[in-house]
Amino acid sequence: MIPMLQRTQKVLGFLPPKALIFIAEFIGMPQAKVFGAATFYAQFRFDPPGRHTIKICRGTACHVRGSDRIQEDIQTRLKVKAGETTSDRCFSLETVACFGSCALAPVVVLDESVHGRMTPFKTRKVLQRTVEKEEGASAKKENSPKPGGS
Ligand code: FES
Repeated sequence: MIPMLQRTQKVLGFLPPKALIFIAEFIGMPQAKVFGAATFYAQFRFDPPGRHTIKICRGTACHVRGSDRIQEDIQTRLKVKAGETTSDRCFSLETVACFGSCALAPVVVLDESVHGRMTPFKTRKVLQRTVEKEEGASAKKENSPKPGGS
C-alpha cells in the first residue's frame, strides 16, 4: 500500500480522497485502513502543493544559526504554517530535519535551489524574486503573439 500511496503522490502531487478510495478498492482493503495509513505518515499530503516549495532546515546547525527566525518571518509574511500552502497556491512551506549542508547553515531550499547562510531578509528577497519572475513570465506570455495570428 505505501509504495502505491507514494507513487500516486508523486504523479498527482498530493493524495485526493478519490485516489485513496481507488487504492483501497484495488488492493481489497477497507478504506479506513488506507486513510489511516496515509494520515499516519508525515510524507503524505492531502492538499495540492503550491507552485513553489520552500523548505526550511530545522536541524541543529541551522537552528543554532537562526532558522527559527527565518521560519517565523516566512510564516508571518505568507500567513501559513509549516505543512501549509498559501491561499494563492504560490508557496508551500515545509521543514526538513537536515539537508546535509550544515556548513551553509542556516539553509533554505526553494524548489531545487539551495540557499545557504540565510537570514529572514535574504529569504524574503529570494521569495520576492520568485514572485517577480513568475509575474514577468505570465506578462510575457500575455504579450506574446498568438499562434496563427498576423
Ligand atoms: S542542520 Fe541544516 S543543513 Fe544540516
